[in-house]
Amino acid sequence: MMSRRSLTFLFFLTLLPFSNSLPPVRVEVIRRASSPAAAPAFREAPAFRNADDCAQPTSSRVNIAMTLDANYLRGTIAAVLSILQHTSCPENVYFHFVAARSDPDTIASIRSTFPYLAFRLHRFDSGLVRGRISRSIRQALDQPLNYARIYLADILPLDVDRVIYLDSDVVVVDDIRALWDVDLAGRVVAAPEYCHANFTKYFTDAFWGDSVLSRTFDGLRPCYFNTGVMVMDVRRWRAGGYTQMVESWMTVQKQKHIYHLGSLPPFLLVLAGNIKAVDHRWNQHGLGGDNMEGRCRKLHSGPISLLHWSGKGKPWLRLDSRKPCPVDHLWAPYDLYKSSSPSLEE
Ligand SMILES: *[C@@H]1O[C@H](CO)[C@@H](O)[C@H](O)[C@H]1NC(C)=O
Repeated sequence: MMSRRSLTFLFFLTLLPFSNSLPPVRVEVIRRASSPAAAPAFREAPAFRNADDCAQPTSSRVNIAMTLDANYLRGTIAAVLSILQHTSCPENVYFHFVAARSDPDTIASIRSTFPYLAFRLHRFDSGLVRGRISRSIRQALDQPLNYARIYLADILPLDVDRVIYLDSDVVVVDDIRALWDVDLAGRVVAAPEYCHANFTKYFTDAFWGDSVLSRTFDGLRPCYFNTGVMVMDVRRWRAGGYTQMVESWMTVQKQKHIYHLGSLPPFLLVLAGNIKAVDHRWNQHGLGGDNMEGRCRKLHSGPISLLHWSGKGKPWLRLDSRKPCPVDHLWAPYDLYKSSSPSLEE
């Protein structure tokens, strides 16, 4: 069977003037001349169609925001596939991809992998955060695009009231609409909460030892939550000036070093103790291992709707290195990456 890439290539050839007169050897030359840096080849996903009882996409849209970065593209594509595969109304899911720069190869990959996908690309001006990022314990956490989730209310069109933000290293194995439909009960963010985690350790002694800062959570029961999976009321976020609140904590961090991680702690400072808790099934996180070593992790018990490879290790890298963790085999079925080199005989 011919790969899509080969077909695209043939189509391109037919557009060339005098292509009929090109000898076969010329074909080889052109094919090899296609840049080695060209976007990786992904298999085309099937078309996912709505069930009969789905509402019109325009009146019942599920908005999902994800960042788009060439380094995580394989993860993003797996996440999108997993969402479409498990929802009964896939045509009602709308993707908002946020990218720091315009990367035609990445966008072309999304388009060719999901020809029917409803999506829009939004630009994130990384200059917004560059001066505010302080170095964390893991370099990957310091990428400006990691901070884009703070700016969703500014990035997304005004008619988007609610959005589900997802990291690129997740797969959803349940109907995303069940998460979408959560009752926020007036809160700005909904996410699973982890109240048994030791909240103290997310902040430094400089924070807890400061008589003013340490009173931040007075009157609250703050719990850790993971910012890789959040339902956000974008309108309330905007109206409440939450972006500015998160930014001001980043400024404090620059001066006083009050935490170790990247974009997570300022979120906790503004929202911990004030979010709507959703079932833990919606973020089985930490599957990438810890931030330093990335050792293998087991699943926690209980039902699972979303798997999240947060932490250092990523399933596609471990699978490629032939040293996968057992949990990585749960990610593999959503991998559309076509590792074989393209050829006309494929
Ligand atoms: C939580 O962590 C802090 C700082 O590492 C430690 O002092 C404290 O004893 C821990 N609390 C519990 C309940 O483990």
